[in-house]
Amino acid sequence: MCGIVGYIGNKEAMPILLGGLAKLEYRGYDSAGVSVFEDGIRTVKSQGRLTNLVEKIETEGSSASHIGIGHTRWATHGEPSDRNSHPHNGQSGKISLVHNGIIENYLEIKKMLLDNGYIFQSETDTEVVAQLFDFYYAGNPLETLQKVIGEIRGAYALGVLCSDHPDTLLAVRKDSPLLVGLSEDGNYIASDAPAILEHTRDYYLLNDNEIAYLTKDGVVLYDLVGNTIAKEIYHVDWDIAAAEKGGYDYFMMKEMMEQPEALRKSILPRLENGEVKLDDFAMTKEEIANLNRIHIVACGSAWHAGIVGKYVIEEMCRIPVEVDIASEFRYRNPILNKNDLCIILSQSGETADTLAALREAKKQGVKVLSIVNVVGSSIARESDYVLYTWAGPEIAVATTKGYSTQLSVLYLVAMYFAKERGTVSNEMYALCEKELEEMPEKAAKLLQLDASLAELAKEYASCEDVFLIGRGIDYAAAMESSLKLKEISYIHSEAYAAGELKHGTISLVEEGTLVIAIATQDTLFEKLVSNAKEVKARGARVIGIAPEGQTLMEEVADQVIYLPKAHNLFASSYVVLPMQLFAYYIAVERGCDVDKPRNLAKSVTVE
Ligand code: AGP
Repeated sequence: MCGIVGYIGNKEAMPILLGGLAKLEYRGYDSAGVSVFEDGIRTVKSQGRLTNLVEKIETEGSSASHIGIGHTRWATHGEPSDRNSHPHNGQSGKISLVHNGIIENYLEIKKMLLDNGYIFQSETDTEVVAQLFDFYYAGNPLETLQKVIGEIRGAYALGVLCSDHPDTLLAVRKDSPLLVGLSEDGNYIASDAPAILEHTRDYYLLNDNEIAYLTKDGVVLYDLVGNTIAKEIYHVDWDIAAAEKGGYDYFMMKEMMEQPEALRKSILPRLENGEVKLDDFAMTKEEIANLNRIHIVACGSAWHAGIVGKYVIEEMCRIPVEVDIASEFRYRNPILNKNDLCIILSQSGETADTLAALREAKKQGVKVLSIVNVVGSSIARESDYVLYTWAGPEIAVATTKGYSTQLSVLYLVAMYFAKERGTVSNEMYALCEKELEEMPEKAAKLLQLDASLAELAKEYASCEDVFLIGRGIDYAAAMESSLKLKEISYIHSEAYAAGELKHGTISLVEEGTLVIAIATQDTLFEKLVSNAKEVKARGARVIGIAPEGQTLMEEVADQVIYLPKAHNLFASSYVVLPMQLFAYYIAVERGCDVDKPRNLAKSVTVE
């Protein structure tokens, strides 16, 4: 999704802006641009990769500037083009502005501005904000910004330059992330920490409708009516190297390989003397005992993790669990009870629909526990309880370690609730603890299949249709594996509950169709083998996924991927690791841009 970076200080702005935009490339974008203050505001924009913008700037040449804003755009209003790229400028030439989010009432405002003689250069909602700023501007940029945000509706993070005030950079956010970075050499704005991590680790995390007034010497924060706000400085301790590729060809590979370590960090400190300890989780024993229903709400892979969570929590805690896609939950008028708990899953903590679902749950008086990776993100800040996944920065658009660690925390939560509610035997609890302790090592062993999966991928790289089948908890793993294939290799792939295949979809299976049969559940193993036989009989090529020792799969499958042995509730969590590698190598074989798949953004911060 779009990215913002801005700087004001003693250093030269252009390299900081371009360096910051490069760090935001992973969010997905189709054009980029910068505005700096030279004699007046100078704006350079270009469709396509950041290198196009860099070339343009080099060709035009630039003089030193110590203030500027930059943006990577992911088109929403209007096609990707130079014209629609940000920054957008006001008609007077005095204002330049970058924006993440969507302005819902932009057409209404545009009409008013057109009636007042404004001429628009682009089709974007953002230009409307720049022109509205221009329209209201009477010398005081802070007052103008207050007026503008009083009029616009929707989601926004804004960075504003005003040529009358070349010593000032303004920023504000609502429902779209924005950080203000602080340093001796100047101050920064960024939609995401990696953009400015090499310059500072000290930030203000803006809340909705808080305005940051940046000069080279400091930052003052204001509320909507102009009162100053005191705020704690938040320190990020991410290692810069952790946000770099570290010798791998792609971030995705690096992040897949980091999974054992991420699992260790997420699980082991929470297991103490045979018990799950969730230090920051302050739900009382009574509240846990009285839990009526759990609603797990998330998008994409996080939603898939939520489906696994449903199986595990229902099995261990005997609490009914509903799993919703956040964009559906927020508009379906869900029936919530005061003794319900809403569990929000999000790697980024900024997904717009997930954040809106959280707010809906809170509005209805339901407590929210979020399982989030990015510390200090909007979802983390607005939740009643937060459990971090401690996966470290995830840069590749396709989530890997983010998903695996979400699963691990869901297991911990299930164990914690089960113990408090007395729904788990001592033996089962001890077994779960052992399974979780062993998870990082088992994951590491499984990732050693790397080379053989690269070979397997070569064989199947030309597939155009893939079906993944599984039953029960394996169906959830099939969905996540299918999404990995789709998003990075652009292969059409679908996940099916194996028993459902015969109700229509099997008609699509023909000579050479690839079917991946996932069978980690021993009670359902034979049924899955039968389903695999059915597709095999219709000409499908079959890859089986089964726990070590379940060699019966070899009778039907062309190849079998063996997973470490584990209890039924845990076995399925290993499926996705080889499937991530398989999808990765297929994408590489097909020449796809693994880390930045087409049309996708890392963090979906608009509806
Ligand atoms: C998964 O590979 C995708 N990138 C996507 O489905 C992602 O999981 C989804 O957008 C949710 O993101 P979040 O976890 O940051 O909220």
